[in-house]
This record gives sequence, C-alpha cells and structure tokens, in this order.
Amino acid sequence: MLNVKACIFDLDGVIVDTARHHFAAWQALANELVIPFTEEDNEQLKGVSRVDSLEYILRKGNLILDSATKLQLMDKKNALYLGLAESTTSVDVLDGIVPLMDEMADSKIQIGLGSSSKNARMILKKLDLIHRFDTIVDGNNITLSKPDPEVFLKAAKAMDVSPEHCLVFEDAQSGIEAAKTGGFPVVGVGSGLETAHASFESLNGLSLEGIIGKLDFSQ
Ligand code: BG6
Ligand code: MG
Repeated sequence: MLNVKACIFDLDGVIVDTARHHFAAWQALANELVIPFTEEDNEQLKGVSRVDSLEYILRKGNLILDSATKLQLMDKKNALYLGLAESTTSVDVLDGIVPLMDEMADSKIQIGLGSSSKNARMILKKLDLIHRFDTIVDGNNITLSKPDPEVFLKAAKAMDVSPEHCLVFEDAQSGIEAAKTGGFPVVGVGSGLETAHASFESLNGLSLEGIIGKLDFSQ
C-alpha cells in the first residue's frame, strides 16, 4: 500500500463546485466577443490559468488583441465569476471532502492546495476551510499553468514531502497530466479521467484508505 504523507487538492471542481461559475463567466465573455464556447471547450480550460484561458478563446475566434484589452477582458471575466460565486449559497463544499480532511488530520497527513486560481484563498475563507491547509499554492504563486507540474511541486516542497508520497486530487485533464509529469500519484474526481491512477465520480462516502487501495500504477 502506498505510504501517503500528504495530500494536495485542486480547488475548483474537487473541493468546491465553482467550475460551473468559471464556465458561465467565460461563456458570457465569449458570447460578447461572438466566439462560440462549448462545454467541450470548457473541459480544455479546467485547471488552466485565467490568461491561458483567454488566449484559448481568442485563438478560437481568430481575434488578435493588444495586452491592455486582454487585461480588461480578464478583469471582466473575473468580475462575472465573483458575481456568481459571491453568495455563500452559490459555493458549496463538494460531498466527501470534509470527512476526508478529518481523516487526514486524524492520521497526521498534511493537506495542501494546488490550484491555478487567484481566487483560491477567498473561496477557502468563504467556505471556512482555510485553516485546514498546511500549505496553499495558487495562481498567485506560479508562473506555469497546469499541465506544468509547478503548482504541485511547490506544494510538496512546502510540506517537505517528495512527490511519490503526495496524493493529488484533480478534476481536470490538465491537472492529471501535471501530477503525473511531476511524479505524483493522482486521483481523478469526475468522469472521463481514466488516465488518473484511480478515478471516482464523487469522493462522497470514500475513505482515504479505500482510495489508496484502488490506485493502479500499471499505466
Ligand atoms: C482553475 C479553474 O482552478 O483556475 C479554471 O479550473 C480557472 O477554470 C483557473 O480559469 C483560474 O482561476 P482564476 O480564479 O484565477 O481566474
Ligand atoms: Mg479543477
């Protein structure tokens, strides 16, 4: 059985159901720019930084803009996102997360955050989860977006645990690739994440030991 000393959680789509707000905000922006933006496009953008997401949408619409306009568009998207995520009732901790974090704390397993979002601390505070984290690495602390492993490597280093003893939880293809490139065991949360070492539709009702028991390193 894998000796897990720390766990690193992605935020959007793993801890909290904010992925739908990011999608809605990008869709509204793309509509204004008259660029089609589908759920499939959104799948590509999960885990990807704000700037890289905008570049993806502009590429799709063959739009070339100056950097001042791009900054304005990113601010606009973020304002739309914050508007959607503002009320406490519109951001919910996903099922299974709190019991898993309780189990980790009881077993003295460190908990880290590895998120591309610059809003991560605000969301964790709103959910009253921030005190549970031994380290937080987010969009403000990285230069390279997932699928680069920088975010997870920084979190592991901050907890002084080597990647092979750090279990990553991810809902995005880019995040699973990032974890694997960095040498981390990775659990996929959601559907279509077969490249992860184990994947579950939801973490609801799962124990850490149960999850570790399902890890398959044959691929
Ligand atoms: C990731 C989300 O966690 O953070 C992406 O999956 C989002 O959808 C990215 O674009 C950046 O978030 P933010 O809050 O910095 O715009
Ligand atoms: Mg995510």
